[in-house]
Amino acid sequence: MPWFAPAYPAFSPTAHPYLTIRPLAPQEAGPLQAVFQDLSARSRQLRYHTPLAALRPAMVRHLTDVDPSRHVALVATLGGRPVGIGRWLRDPFRPTEAELAVEIIDRWHGAGIGTAIAAEAARHASRAGVQTFVAHIDPVNSAARAWARALGATPNPDDPDQVRLAVSALAPGLPRHHPAA
Ligand SMILES: CC(C)(COP(=O)(O)OP(=O)(O)OC[C@H]1O[C@@H](n2cnc3c(N)ncnc32)[C@H](O)[C@@H]1OP(=O)(O)O)[C@@H](O)C(=O)NCCC(=O)NCCS
Repeated sequence: MPWFAPAYPAFSPTAHPYLTIRPLAPQEAGPLQAVFQDLSARSRQLRYHTPLAALRPAMVRHLTDVDPSRHVALVATLGGRPVGIGRWLRDPFRPTEAELAVEIIDRWHGAGIGTAIAAEAARHASRAGVQTFVAHIDPVNSAARAWARALGATPNPDDPDQVRLAVSALAPGLPRHHPAA
């Protein structure tokens, strides 16, 4: 065994006793604001596709307008502190599709939390009849593109800002569906 072997097993969010992922209640803005405060300017820009110093009140209203049949927002907390938010929003014109958007605070990037939130989002979305997630990820956002690829997403050839993935690919045990073209 090499002398530098870690004393503890690698962080695993699914095994971490202090990680919880739960849905936000309607109009529950506290965790949303806490995560936003801890995002770097670059992560804010990548997530919201515009430079933002603060979430405007209309955005907060929209982002907390949750309803299990069309919009679920999930907050991940570690030791009680919000570290990430993920959400799906049903496309009103294509009811089996939903937009997936995830933001993890920078100091916890790469720890598997984005993947854990996406899997939980898939469980909720599948129950609501969603089969395909669509994520809008700028082609320059190579980290999020790699993350989505690792989840099984494929680029939409008709839209360079969009990737698509089968909800069933994200959470074992869900019924199998192929992403609609
Ligand atoms: C994109 C984002 C959500 C990923 O969440 P995360 O918790 O950091 O990602 P995970 O730890 O779950 O990564 C899972 C896999 O994705 C890939 N990945 C994640 N970040 C990566 C990076 N910076 N470079 C290359 N691959 C990466 C890896 O394959 C990784 O698996 P590995 O750690 O075993 O190699 C997070 O970086 C983030 O919040 N970014 C800012 C906001 C944003 O861009 N949102 C757009 C998403 S809709």
